[in-house]
Amino acid sequence: MRFPENFLWGTATAAYQVEGAVNEDGRGASIWDTFSHTPGKVHHGDTGDIACDQYHRLEEDLDLMSELGMQAYRFSVAWPRIQPEGSGPANQKGFDFYRRLVDGLRQRSIEPMLTLYHWDLPQALEDLGGWTNRDTSERFAEYAGIVYEALSDNVGFWITLNEPWVSAWMGYGLGVHAPGHKDSARALAATHHLLLGHGLAMERMRSAGDGNQLGVTLNLHPARPSRDRQADREAARRVDGQANRLYLDPLFRGEFPEDVFSHYRERGVDLSFVHDDDLVSISVPIDFLGINYYFRNTVRDAPEEQGQSVPFADLDARPVIPDAAEKTAMGWPVEPEGLTEILVRIKEEYADLPIYVTENGRAVHDYIDPEGDVDDEERVSYLDAHFRAAHEAMDRGVDLRGYMVWSFLDNFEWAEGYSKRFGIVFVEYGTQRRVPKSSARWYSEVIRRNGLE
Ligand code: FCB
Repeated sequence: MRFPENFLWGTATAAYQVEGAVNEDGRGASIWDTFSHTPGKVHHGDTGDIACDQYHRLEEDLDLMSELGMQAYRFSVAWPRIQPEGSGPANQKGFDFYRRLVDGLRQRSIEPMLTLYHWDLPQALEDLGGWTNRDTSERFAEYAGIVYEALSDNVGFWITLNEPWVSAWMGYGLGVHAPGHKDSARALAATHHLLLGHGLAMERMRSAGDGNQLGVTLNLHPARPSRDRQADREAARRVDGQANRLYLDPLFRGEFPEDVFSHYRERGVDLSFVHDDDLVSISVPIDFLGINYYFRNTVRDAPEEQGQSVPFADLDARPVIPDAAEKTAMGWPVEPEGLTEILVRIKEEYADLPIYVTENGRAVHDYIDPEGDVDDEERVSYLDAHFRAAHEAMDRGVDLRGYMVWSFLDNFEWAEGYSKRFGIVFVEYGTQRRVPKSSARWYSEVIRRNGLE
């Protein structure tokens, strides 16, 4: 099974999850510093203070990527390294790190793919309301313009936001991520301002007039009823509305899904944060869509869930893990067919545009065995199945251009701290030793062959 000649294979990480060095070279505080240092928020009290220490181990990590034959690296820029207080002139020392990163990738012929926002909002902006404050969209566009000016010569792929659903709903709706608010109304306002920030940032970057590829990354989950019942089908439709269409419709059609908005309006949510012309900005054309895919949302109707801090409770719905499914160390079901489904859906219902899988992977209970190896055969078979599912979508006409495995390294898995390992490279946190797992060797072969056996 072969992939197209210029197909781009790589891995992904995010600043707060790997960099560490949170107090160095003028970096300001982010909402994740505050959140992870608040007792009870993150498993085991873990923080990103040190993480994988990539800030100090950059050369070693770049060499390892190169040894493994990686063709691309998706990383994110920490906004508080560039604007410690979330606005104003750039902190040049913050840029020095990303210049070294980008130059180091180029020297090794690894394509940089840069994400501007992977959840680490400057705390100073959160103090003014964070993403519930319309001004944050403007601040984000300003920040995007600054980073673009500094790095656009050397970076060809630009992603404005990583997973706005997670930023908005996990952070402002469910409170399990930073900044930790539990309010659907705030999550909706955050959704809108994130999307608006994306649109305004796109306009800034586009005005430079170069040939760089500009896009956004969504986490998409096909939604389906857990039982063959009308009530569950309707619940699946509501979940699809919040998780997928609330992001796809404004980006590709310039409108918010009416069923989602009326659901919340009926519950007394004031949606007046949407101003005239906002949707014109939000729907500016993008060059590619990034998709992060992990699993499907299988749901049932659940009116009794109201008020619970679990996903979709405010939609009277509840996620169900299918009994038969294999589960990862996160408890997420393994469902490669959902990847084909979502890729084909974008082409059929939204737009036939270039797509990159910007994240896909699984957590495994990895350990270094007595021979010194990490034998993660579950991850190998997971990736194999998902690469095949992606290929199937390409056979059905989807213009898939590349695939970034989550993740290059084991890292700080947000509310799960260091307890969940997603890397193809094992990190022994005490010593910061990197040990490529079996999946890294296997992936390296896939890339070399540009295909699967
Ligand atoms: C995604 C995030 C990424 C990582 C994976 C497992 O939602 O974008 O940072 O945590 O999940």
